[in-house]
Amino acid sequence: MPDTDRPSGAPHGSSILVTGATGNLGREVVERLHARGPRVRRLVRHQTGPLPGVDSVVGDITDHTTMRKALVGIDTVFLIWPLLDSAPARSLIEELTATAPRVIYLSSSAIDDEAARQSDPIVQVHADMEELLHSAGLRPVVLRSDTLASNALGWAGQLKAGGVVAGPDIARTAVVDERDVADAAVAVLCGSLDELAHAPYVLTGPEPLSRADQVACLGAALSRRLRFEAVPADLARSRMLADGRPERLVEALIAASVGRPESKRVTDHLTRLTGRPAGTFARWAIDHAAAFS
Ligand SMILES: NC(=O)c1ccc[n+]([C@@H]2O[C@H](COP(=O)([O-])OP(=O)(O)OC[C@H]3O[C@@H](n4cnc5c(N)ncnc54)[C@H](OP(=O)(O)O)[C@@H]3O)[C@@H](O)[C@H]2O)c1
Repeated sequence: MPDTDRPSGAPHGSSILVTGATGNLGREVVERLHARGPRVRRLVRHQTGPLPGVDSVVGDITDHTTMRKALVGIDTVFLIWPLLDSAPARSLIEELTATAPRVIYLSSSAIDDEAARQSDPIVQVHADMEELLHSAGLRPVVLRSDTLASNALGWAGQLKAGGVVAGPDIARTAVVDERDVADAAVAVLCGSLDELAHAPYVLTGPEPLSRADQVACLGAALSRRLRFEAVPADLARSRMLADGRPERLVEALIAASVGRPESKRVTDHLTRLTGRPAGTFARWAIDHAAAFS
């Protein structure tokens, strides 16, 4: 994409920046946008193999210069904020304010709008990011996603080695297929603002599931007897630290395990955006079986 400003009269959604573009969700969004036709730019941390037809800017989302470069000629941003703190978003917010693109922010369905503080740091950072974007006058369209099914890919190592997934448990929630969230995001990114009166959208899967339920679905998909073993918080913390996971991430995961309440909420927002029902985790497990064997 040439580094020029959006031509006057060009529709919004004709040049789209995707952050977190190499992640489980971002990858799916980039792929779909590319197929749909708008010009797509990825923010990537490291130079990756070229993706034909997709422009890339290399750098960190917290870096002023990187974000200034990434936003040139962009009219719409699909904003994934992958950090556990909103404070480093200051330079990003400044750059967004200067260029004023349409912002679609990927948030969390676990936000409690009535609470002064959220249940855990991961949810709090999303609440803080929404607030920062709103108070900067960016009028973001907010997509609040439930737990992504792709988080289960983190169990692949354990399931290749044996039949048990051991880790901290977390309350049941309506786990959503990241491919569905990507479809919903693309519907918003390529749609017009008039269709967005119902935002924030809360994107859920079709039914609340525990981790044990998800492992059972994987067992069915793989035709193997698998089980989930809940590990107490202190033991889970020490194991994750011993595995070399950053302390802040470990504490956030433990806090989510201990403090996040069960959610039975299932919405039709995804269907309203995509025109079809949300997929099941059982389907996701069948489609991703190869990753676990
Ligand atoms: N997972 C969930 O259940 C869930 C639920 C609700 C909302 N969300 C939101 O959705 C986002 C995406 O989830 P995901 O599962 O796709 O995450 P993911 O697979 O971990 O991907 C994170 C992406 O962010 C990039 N990234 C990390 N730090 C960065 C930095 N400092 N500067 C620029 N890019 C950076 C990563 O780049 P590298 O490839 O270089 O690491 C990667 O592309 C989450 O970050 C969260 O905000 C997630």
